[in-house]
Amino acid sequence: MKAMASRAYGDPSQLRRIELDRPTPGPGDVLVRVHAAGVDQGVWHLVTGLPYPIRPVSGLRRPKNPVPGLDVAGVVEAVGADVTASRPGDEVFGTAAGSFAEYVVTPAAKLARKPARLSFAAAAAVPTSAFAALQGLRDKARVKDGDRVLVIGAGGGVGSYGVQLARAFGAEVTGVCSTAKVGLVRSLGATDVVDHIREDFAAGGRRYDVVLDCGGHASLARLRRVLEPRGTLVIIGSEYGGRWLAAQTGSCGRCCCRRSCPSAWAR
Ligand SMILES: NC(=O)c1ccc[n+]([C@@H]2O[C@H](COP(=O)([O-])OP(=O)(O)OC[C@H]3O[C@@H](n4cnc5c(N)ncnc54)[C@H](OP(=O)(O)O)[C@@H]3O)[C@@H](O)[C@H]2O)c1
Repeated sequence: MKAMASRAYGDPSQLRRIELDRPTPGPGDVLVRVHAAGVDQGVWHLVTGLPYPIRPVSGLRRPKNPVPGLDVAGVVEAVGADVTASRPGDEVFGTAAGSFAEYVVTPAAKLARKPARLSFAAAAAVPTSAFAALQGLRDKARVKDGDRVLVIGAGGGVGSYGVQLARAFGAEVTGVCSTAKVGLVRSLGATDVVDHIREDFAAGGRRYDVVLDCGGHASLARLRRVLEPRGTLVIIGSEYGGRWLAAQTGSCGRCCCRRSCPSAWAR
């Protein structure tokens, strides 16, 4: 089968088409014929090996898996002996390490049925980004009807799902993005949009029950300023950490605005 691969860390332009043996599914695995593979920020990190703290996991000197890609949409080609949830011919989407290839193997639990009205390309753009937004808003912040939610980076991969999910949970959403994305963010359901090129989201005195920071790299002090006293801050990550600092990721639950907050990732 054909795959895009690189045996060394570096610029994504060094990825080359190579020939590999088609993988064989284990008992709990599914073999997917790839129709579309998603590219999110994480793929760039794994191809470049940056920031360095990811290398104990991704491979110290070179990528452990030369074929990048995680998000996938495609058709089930074969299933392992223990798999009952999928069968050959099913249209699926989810995550599979090494999805920049004609075929990829992944545990059955990492796949879901693709809705028929969703194209393969659209489905492959969902898993990593939408899941990060879902975990942040539903599992960490527990957004509920009537909450006021601020999404920073609302026009990006995670943030654009964040706006839609927060609206679906019944929240009133304010999105922060650059000028060119104001229309997009409004069309996704944001009631208010702050253009961070012209305005400071922390300047107006408005406070939010939940802040989802997807790339804005605002200081913790500025983020605190816009949070309600018992509000929740969820930091998805940002690209401002350079080669050595991992993008800060996490959530401090319901206590982040206390002065004694021990957040290790305070900026
Ligand atoms: N923890 C996880 O599981 C997880 C999962 C996915 C992603 N991440 C990380 O989370 C971050 C966001 O991922 P993504 O896929 O959403 O990236 P993305 O598509 O590049 O979006 C990031 C957004 O940040 C915005 N931004 C940049 N500078 C800003 C500023 N000064 N003020 C406000 N907004 C600013 C940009 O918006 P404008 O262009 O409008 O300025 C951009 O749309 C990345 O660092 C990624 O690696 C973490």
